[in-house]
This record gives sequence, C-alpha cells and structure tokens, in this order.
Amino acid sequence: MPQRPYIVGNWKMNGTRAMLSEARAIDRAAQRLMKVEVAVAPPYTLLHAVHREAAQIAVGAQDCHPGQEGAHTGDISAGMLADAGAKFVILGHSERRESHAESNSCVQEKALAALDAGMRIIMCCGEADKIRQSGKAEDFVIQQLRESLPTLENAAENLTVAYEPIWAIGTGNSATVGDVSAMHTAIRALLVELYGVEEGAEVRILYGGSVNPENARELLSADEVGGALVGGASLTADSFMGIALAAAEIQDS
Ligand code: 13P
Repeated sequence: MPQRPYIVGNWKMNGTRAMLSEARAIDRAAQRLMKVEVAVAPPYTLLHAVHREAAQIAVGAQDCHPGQEGAHTGDISAGMLADAGAKFVILGHSERRESHAESNSCVQEKALAALDAGMRIIMCCGEADKIRQSGKAEDFVIQQLRESLPTLENAAENLTVAYEPIWAIGTGNSATVGDVSAMHTAIRALLVELYGVEEGAEVRILYGGSVNPENARELLSADEVGGALVGGASLTADSFMGIALAAAEIQDS
C-alpha cells in the first residue's frame, strides 16, 4: 500500500447513544495507529455526538441530498452534515442505489453537492452476482463510475472510491484477492483517464464486502487496495481495530 491506508466503518442503520462507548474506544485505539487513517460513518442521529467524542478519527455521513435546503421532508443536505461535523460522505452505496432507486446521475449530483459543501467523498461501486457470473463485472463497474464520479477540478483530491461487490456485502463471502486486484486495477486506469496520471494515482481505492480481522491482511495486501470500507465488523472497536491493525502491520512489513 503506497498511500496511508484508509479504514472506514459504515455503521449503516445501526447504533444508538449506547454505541458512543465503541466510538470512544475506536478513537483511542486509532491514536496508537497513526500510520492508518481511521474513520466512521454513524447514522445521522449519532453524527454530531461521535464528532464531539473523536479526537483522532474523522466522522462522515452515509448519504446526502443533492440540494442545499428547502422542502425535502426527511432529507439532509451536505452543508447540514458539514455543520454537524461530517468531513466526508459515503455516496452511491448499493443499498441506497437499490432501496432508494438512486441512479448514477443522482449519485453524481450528490457528489457535486458534497464537494461544494467542502466535504470529501467515498464513491461506492460494485456489481450484483448475476453480472459477475456473466463475466461483465469490470465493464459494469467502470460504466457505473464513469456516470457517478464528479469531474470537477478539485474532485480527485477529495475522492476515495470503494469497490463493494454486492454479493460480498454482509454475506461472509469476500471477493478473492485475484478478483479484487483485477477490479481495482481497472478502476485505477479509469481514475488516471479522468483525472490525469498524478491525481488519478493518488485516489485511494477501498475494498468492501465481508472484511473482518481474519481476512483483512490478505485483502489489504492486494494490488491497488488502499484500505477497506467495513460494515458489520465496524460495529465493535475490537473487530474494527483488528482490521486497522492489519493495515498497520502491512505498512510495517
Ligand atoms: P459488510 O462489511 O457487513 O459486508 O458491509 C460492507 C459494506 O457494505 C460497507 O459499506
């Protein structure tokens, strides 16, 4: 991993204030692993509280609305999230693309709004099992990213991409190292095409999908993997920081 590894916890729709003790434990452990950048994206209801607890880790949101303000019941703008302490926003997660019918162009609009609010973006992509079986996974993911990524001047420096094959999310079946390396290499080529050789090479590409402390070392060692986007295993400090520790050990080796 040439860049500082980035380990991000996506808490999804999990956590009440009782989870703040885990956030504190994650933050304390992250202070001892300075070679690794650790961040969490709690649900909106905990964002500000986790931000206040955190001395080391960055706190982010799991989605934002493309607009700035107005009559959008139940929605939250990027500016509001920044005001609550969010430094980044996860966009285009397959769970949102699926259950909220988010198209690539809708995700791209959200990305522009997040950049405009001064936030960093973690742009998710990934194919369903049927597409992987048909042999078209790379074509699908590259097209998805082409249509979802923002191409503003300041985009690359504020961007992380997360490859999360849908069939690997929450299933216990992570992708193979070979599949991850191949996909990340294809994504890197697209980033270089979109943002230029230098800036495109700097964007970290995370892998997500059933990452845990046991398989982290192998997955994080794969070509072009710059970190992990972790769901289930990010809900306790022990398992989440086990993954961060694996990233630190790779840096040391
Ligand atoms: P799991 O780690 O639970 O498979 O979830 C991955 C994910 O969707 C992170 O965004």
